[in-house]
Order: sequence, then structure tokens, then C-alpha cells
Amino acid sequence: MSQPMSDNTKTLSTAELRQRFLDYFRERGHTIVPSSPLVPQNDPTLLFTNAGMVQFKDVFLGREKPGYTRATTSQRCVRAGGKHNDLENVGYTARHHTFFEMLGNFSFGDYFKREAIQYAWEFLTREVGLPEERLWVTVYEEDDEAADIWLKEVGVSAERFSRIGAADNFWSMGDTGPCGPCSEIFYDHGPEVPGGPPGTPEEDGDRYVEIWNLVFMQYDRDASGEMTPLPAPCVDTGMGLERIAAVLQGVHSNYDTDLFQRLIHSAAEAVGGDQDLSHPSLKVIADHIRACSFLIVDGVIPSNEGRGYVLRRIIRRAVRHGFKLGASGSFFHKLVPTLVEEMGEAFPELRRRQDDVIKALRREEERFAETVEQGMKLLDEAIAGLEGDTIPGDTVFKLYDTYGFPVDLTADIARERDLKVDQEGFDAAMNAQRERARAASSFSAAHGAAPDVDAETEFTGYEKTGHTATVTHIFRDGDPVDSLEAGESGIVVLDATPFYAEGGGQMGDSGVIETDGGEFRVEDTQKQGAAAHAHIGTLKSGRLKVGEKVEARIDERRRADIVRNHSATHLLNAALREVLGDHIAQKGSLVAPDRLRFDFSHGEALTPEQLESIENRVNEQILANVAAEVRHMAFDDAVRAGALHLAGEHYSSEVRTLRFGDFSMELCGGTHVARTGDIGAFRITYEGGIAAGVRRIEAVTGFGAIQWMRETDARLAKIAGLVRSDREDTPERVAQLLDKQKKLEKEITQLRGKLASGTGSDLTGKAVEIDGIKVLAERLDGADAKALRDAVDQLKNKLGRAAVVLATVEDGKVRLAAGVTKDETKRIKAGDLVNAVASQVGGKGGGRPDMAQAGGTEPGKLDEALASVEAWVREQIGQ
Ligand code: ALA
Repeated sequence: MSQPMSDNTKTLSTAELRQRFLDYFRERGHTIVPSSPLVPQNDPTLLFTNAGMVQFKDVFLGREKPGYTRATTSQRCVRAGGKHNDLENVGYTARHHTFFEMLGNFSFGDYFKREAIQYAWEFLTREVGLPEERLWVTVYEEDDEAADIWLKEVGVSAERFSRIGAADNFWSMGDTGPCGPCSEIFYDHGPEVPGGPPGTPEEDGDRYVEIWNLVFMQYDRDASGEMTPLPAPCVDTGMGLERIAAVLQGVHSNYDTDLFQRLIHSAAEAVGGDQDLSHPSLKVIADHIRACSFLIVDGVIPSNEGRGYVLRRIIRRAVRHGFKLGASGSFFHKLVPTLVEEMGEAFPELRRRQDDVIKALRREEERFAETVEQGMKLLDEAIAGLEGDTIPGDTVFKLYDTYGFPVDLTADIARERDLKVDQEGFDAAMNAQRERARAASSFSAAHGAAPDVDAETEFTGYEKTGHTATVTHIFRDGDPVDSLEAGESGIVVLDATPFYAEGGGQMGDSGVIETDGGEFRVEDTQKQGAAAHAHIGTLKSGRLKVGEKVEARIDERRRADIVRNHSATHLLNAALREVLGDHIAQKGSLVAPDRLRFDFSHGEALTPEQLESIENRVNEQILANVAAEVRHMAFDDAVRAGALHLAGEHYSSEVRTLRFGDFSMELCGGTHVARTGDIGAFRITYEGGIAAGVRRIEAVTGFGAIQWMRETDARLAKIAGLVRSDREDTPERVAQLLDKQKKLEKEITQLRGKLASGTGSDLTGKAVEIDGIKVLAERLDGADAKALRDAVDQLKNKLGRAAVVLATVEDGKVRLAAGVTKDETKRIKAGDLVNAVASQVGGKGGGRPDMAQAGGTEPGKLDEALASVEAWVREQIGQ
């Protein structure tokens, strides 16, 4: 194993190393910015914060300007759940974690490649004394500039240097967003560890470990892959704190560092009994306590979906490993005090929320404990009776559904016993359950659970809207009955029906089923069993009996609305392919009486021009009044003829096809217009994204389109009335009013500023003198950012040698400005002063040594924070 580095460097603890890194960059003009929470504040596309740059995304893109151009952080990150899920590996490898800290330095349009490289090299080789011959450097294959800096200026040996392709050396935050070429620094753990240098076939071995990634952010990539240069080239670097700590402490595994060793000891103690400290389960627990505690600190609570479910999975995995080691009762939450001792100083929010974390963990432990034993018994039995090496999907599902075992927990247990889980079988069982739940919820509203029925209903609704039929089954509260009485709700099955049962996106029909003197109001029609149509509704009057002859009649007006939307959906599908391309695949649809909704695969938002051509193409078909042509044919023939169908869907060998001239042909069992002219008109009312690569269009037709026009028109009339203009002139009138408002706002700001600086200069009397410095920390409510700065400047002038911090609260947010007179900036930095207050009101900031600004989100804590300044100053100057 490698040895601690240069002679004059004593082994650094993880906490010292974190501070050393931040201080190193602070001394080089970087503002120390606190870690942002694990739940990204400004990016709904990201499950968890997974790199240091996440909180700066908008700064890279030029949308946000903080008061500094250089920053450094130790960012808490979670890489679990979502696409890259390392959860199962944690505990079994030297370097996988669910939670880790990323040390980073950032330049926002300030320095670029040269300084980024020089800083990193100097930090590693001088500041913490790693021998140069242990380091290996890579650059992006096309980046000659970075290669020259490394080889010619820094003097890295060409023998420990390689150029690597985009897969490893072009970093992007995600499919879209800031990106650029990168340069990586590796540590060589020595020839006794198997593995080869980066870029060789043996690179996956453990010998060369990536420690630092320097990203030269240059572009913003959009969904089509196009890269636009950023407003200014930037730097984003990331170094795993746990890895560099291991290197500097001369150990190979992150779990052998001081921090993890303490957590492992604490885990052994919490579990109880005599523990082997190298047991992988202790590593799992030590890793998981960090992820779980910080997720709770950042507001995640264990639940059954999204982030909450990832947290639940991690907690349950830790608990199960504890049980494996013989834990009885809950133990996991007992590690929290040790974690707070180790990390509470760097992350004060952990210390503040310690009690909440303990409570949340204990509650989840207790919940899981109630079922874990029975679940393990079930699993042990299943494994004992197993033929082959795969635990069946339905067992995995039962463990999940009844005993709360997440799949990756079962997979983890399987792995320990050299078994696999049947993921596909689990997914199928899960889908079947979702399907049952969906069906049950549409039936159960007022009619009891869905009964199974072995009957076949002849569907006559392609041609007819009403006819006589015979009642074959009646169900009440899910049970078969012979009759329904007036007032009762239930399900009626007929031998033949004009009622369409929901399917292919088209909603079920409503209408009436009449007997002599009785009326059953049908609210919805669903498929039941293999081939029966279930008429769901209430008997309004009389009596309804099995075997009785009835008159079944659908609500024709509603059906006509539905049909218009269904045929328009086909025209829309064809128009999308024409305008956007053949890659369009249907991902879902809803055909309702008042609107249609169509989801399809496409990578980017549609432009207004594309939407207009699509709408035009559909309306052209409507005006051409093309006849619908229905034909039954063999599936293969239909596909050969170009009929659109859903990939992955099962079709029978003979299929029904629907064609509108040469424009559209689809496999379809739904009901449609006779001619396209019946649709009346087609208007797109919404376009948006619903998932990665899936778009949604909503549209209206016929009376729906007329209704939509009326509503839009009424809205316009209302606006015109409010702004007192003719409808035609409304846009200009609104623009005028907005313009006026802007001017007024500016005026108010100026007036407020004047007012505030007047009040500001009266504050001199409140300054307190500490060792020759006049210290003043006060509120100046009503001032805006500029007024606040001006007041700080004026007070500095008036007070002489001074440190001043002023604050206002506006719209529930705190705004801070601090100033220190030049002669005192050696003792007190304005940036530190402003952050001493900002950190207590949920904010951060930065600036020059003599002037700095910050914001905050917790105005309730402002007065207390300002009151603490005096003590803070005393501490700074050693008084
Ligand atoms: N953002 C870069 C990374 O995560 C530094 O590797």
C-alpha cells in the first residue's frame, strides 16, 4: 500500500483535509460557499445533487450573477436511485458510496484552463505533498491547449500522461446543460495493486484511481445535441473527499479512513455483540447512515415514491444488514451522534436537525422491524425450495408488497447467497397489480369491486346507437344477483350492446337501459372479463331482472363528440409524422367527449410554426371531407399496407383497419366519423413535455372547438374591459400599462433609497467600539440593494475605522451588505462578516475584502444574527 506523503506532512484527518482544501482556494481569491442541499433547488430533472456544480448551474449559463467570480465548496452528493444506482455495490468495494463529498473550485468567467491546472497541481504536490511520480494525468484527445499546459508549463512527464476520448473526458451535467472537455488526475496505488493506467484495457483495475476531475465548461448543450458557447468559459472541478483522504492517509479503501473507521466502530457498538470490524455489513451501515441522515436533514421523508422511496430503500438495507449481524431492536439511529461529531462542524444543519434525524430513522426502523422477520422467513423457505439460481418474481413481489422489502434489498440478500432475482417476473407482477388497482378504482367508485364474468357481449355500436337486448348478468357490490331495485347501483351485462367499452384511449359510452317501467342510467362502460361489456350505473326507477328484454340506448350526442375526437386523433398522428418525421410513435392517448390528448415520442418542444402546420394539415383533411373506410384484414397485410399500430401491443391475426384516403391508416377497434367533415374543426390547445423524449398535445374538435373559441374570446373581452380599450388595441394598451408600471417601480426604488440613506447616516450612534474598530450591525428596512451599499459606504466614511453590516427584509427575503474600512481588512474581511450573518439566516454571499453582499431566506432569525456580530468580531480579532 502507498505510504503517507512528504515527510513534513502529518496524516490529515478527513475534516482537516476538507478545511485545508477550502482554505487553499480561499487564499487564492475564492469565496467559500456552503454546500447546497441534496434536493436540488432549481432543477426538477435531477433526483439528487450529484456534483459540486449543480448549485451553480444558472451561474454557468449566465442567468444568475453571484457577488463573486471564484468559489470553492465541499458539496454533499448522493448517487443512489435513479439511473446510476450503486446501492447494491456499497459495502463490497473500496470506493462505492451512496453519499460522498465533492471538493471543488469554480471560476465563473474568471480564470480558465491554465490556472485551474496550476492550482490543482500545486495543491496536490505542494500543499498536501503527493509525489509527482504517483500521479497520472489525462486530457480530452482534441484539447491541445490543456496538453501543452500540462507537458510544457507544469512539466508533467509524457510517460504519465494520456489523451482520452469523449466518453471519459468530456463532461456534461446531463443530456442538456453546461458541458465541456475535461482533464483528470489519477493516483497510482503502486504495482502491487492490479490494474493499468487510464486508456489501457486494464484501466478498470484498482491501481490507478481517479481523484480529481477538472472540467473546462465551455458550452450549453440543448436537447437536439447542439452546443452553444457559454457567455464566458468557466471552470468546474470535482475531487472526491473520501478518495483523497484515503490516499493521504496511506490506505487503499475509503472505509479505512479515520471518518469511516469511527462510523464502523459506532455501528459495531450499536449493533451489539462481538463484531468483526472488517465485515462488509458494517461498511454498509457506516455508508448508509451518512446518506440517510443528510437526506432527512434536507427534507426527504421515507415514503413509497420518488426521493422518499430511495431513502426508505437505503434505511431498510442498513437495517437488514444490522439484523444479519445479530442486532435486536432498532440500532441504526444510534449512529447519528457519532456522525454529528464527525461532520457537524462542517455541516451545522446536521447538528441543528440531529433530533429530527434520530426520530425519523427510529420510526422507519420500527416500521420495518414489524415485518422483516416474517419476510425473511418467507424468503428462506422460498430459497430452500428453489430449483435453479433465481428467486421467482412473484416471491420478490410478495416480499415487496406484504413485507416492505424493496427489490434491491431482496437482490442484496440473493447476492450474498449466489442467487439472482427474476426482475422481469417482478415487473410483470407489479404491472398486474397496478392494472388491478386501476380497474378497481374505476369500478369501485359506487359499484363494488370488479367481478369476473364469463360471458361474451356482441358489440353492435359501429352501426347502431340503440336496440333491444337481453340481460344476462347483474352484479351488486361485486356479487352476482338476480335483480336490482330502484335506487340501487350495479353492473349490467347484456347479450348484445351498442355501448362502446373503454379501450384504445376511447372512453366508454353512457346512456340508458330501459325496461317496461324501469330505467337504468349507464354512467360508464368498461370491458369485463375477456369479452363482456359491463354497463355501470344506477337503476333510477322500476326493477331490472336477469333474463329480461330491455332497450339499450347510448347518449348519441356524447358519442358523436367522442367520435370526432377519435378520428381527429388519427389525423393528428398522421400529420405529426408528416411534419416531424417517421420517428413519431404513439405513447398514449385519451379520447374524451370534450377533448383529445395524444402522447408521442419526440425529443424537443414543437415550434409555433410546426404546430401551425400540423393544425393546418388536419383541418385540410377535415375540409376535404374524406370518407372513412373500414376493412378487416390479416395483421401482416395491414402492416404491409402501412397501417400504424402500437409497438409491443398484442393484436389478433385478423384486425380492423381504418383509413382516411391516403392520409391516414391505423389498426383500430374504436368508433369513428363517417367522413372527416363531421369533425367540424380542429384546434391544438396545448403542447408540452411529460417525460424525457415524450411530448403531449391536447386538442379540441366540433362543439369543443366552438366552446374553446367562445371562452378565449370572453377572456379577451374581459381583459379589454379591465384595461379600458377596444379589443383590437388590447396588446398595445397592456404594453403601455406595463411600461408605466416599470417606471413607477424605478421611481419608488429611488425614493426608498433616498429615504433609507437619510436614516442610515443616523445609525452612527449605534456603533460599538472593539479594539479601535467601530462595529455596527443594524437593520435598514426599506432600503434596496443599492441604498444598502450606499449606506454602508457612508457609515464607513463617518465612522473612520469600522466594520459595518446592514440588513433589510423584502418579500420575505433577507438582503445584507457589509463593509470594512481598508485599514481593517487584514483583521476582518467583509466577506466573512457578511457570511457570519448570512449563514444564520439560511443564506450565503461574498465579495471583496472591503465590501460584500449576501442574501438569506429566514428573516425570522435576522435580529438574533445581527446581535451575534459583536461577539463574532471579538473572536476574529482575539478579544
Ligand atoms: N462536475 C465534475 C464531476 O462531477 C467535476 O466530475
